[in-house]
Amino acid sequence: MIALGIESTAHTFGCGIVSDSGGKCNILANEKSAYTTQSGGIHPKEAMEHHLKNAKSVIENALRTAKTDWNGIDLISFSQGPGLGPCLRVGAIAARALALRYKKPLLGVNHCIAHIEIGKALTQAKNPIIVYVSGANTQITGYESGCYRIYGETLDIGVGNLLDVFGRALGIGFPAGPQLDKMYFESQNYIAFPYTVKGMDLTFSGLLTAAENKAKSKQYGNADLAYSLLHTAFAMVTEVAERALAHTEKNEILLTGGVAASRALQQMMQKMCDARNAKMFVPPASVATDNAAMIAWLGLIEHKAGIKQKIGDTKILPMQRTDQVEVKWA
Ligand code: FE2
Repeated sequence: MIALGIESTAHTFGCGIVSDSGGKCNILANEKSAYTTQSGGIHPKEAMEHHLKNAKSVIENALRTAKTDWNGIDLISFSQGPGLGPCLRVGAIAARALALRYKKPLLGVNHCIAHIEIGKALTQAKNPIIVYVSGANTQITGYESGCYRIYGETLDIGVGNLLDVFGRALGIGFPAGPQLDKMYFESQNYIAFPYTVKGMDLTFSGLLTAAENKAKSKQYGNADLAYSLLHTAFAMVTEVAERALAHTEKNEILLTGGVAASRALQQMMQKMCDARNAKMFVPPASVATDNAAMIAWLGLIEHKAGIKQKIGDTKILPMQRTDQVEVKWA
């Protein structure tokens, strides 16, 4: 079976095509166009306009890369939520129009679970604790009794958003993570920052305000600030991931989302896994960041499990939570 997926939850408009030949996830195309800024974060309306402008060419490129046409596509899936309403709407409208035009089954899927399932499909992870860290999301989840339970999550902003907004204070454009990650390895001078873990949940806004104030004061070097901010934020995430491992007695971590590419986070998480005899898996960056191959793959496995939607069921769900989706394909 071959599925075409459309991703448009935030900054990325993507179109991916995957097949399950040989019982494995084969990515035939994973095209994208991402909205970026020189300074400042995502403006939802501008991101939507970016998606509208690029949707057609991204979809055409994906079909070309996969060396197929609409006759070769068995299913169209799209990110139904969670995400920014104006952005989600572009993907949903495109998917609905194409499904009707080419008479294909249509399936809206959860973006966070798509990260998890493609991560599992492309690594050796079987039953991991998933650490999903991106601009909008920071969630520590794991499969238990029919759904991906959320063991811990951010109560305010995503850890990637923390990095992007702090990057702005240093004059770094969006996304700021890669540059801050480089700076992390240029310092070992730790400046104390607020460390806030509440039970199993996290908050980053106090940390952000403290970091912005310290940057404004001009009393600290940028590398020292980047090192200290990343060290604090990633230690918080790693602490919650470790407790989720201990509580569930699982022995695998799947690190995914855009921030999974951070070497600083990978290093810290790996040390924790080594200490607990757990294995850490990080999918390739092309599927850890927002992408559409993961949307196609989740659509494919849901469809094969018999999940169907009528057009009326395909309304966007900007606030949909990971644990609201019944996992019928496990
Ligand atoms: Fe994402």
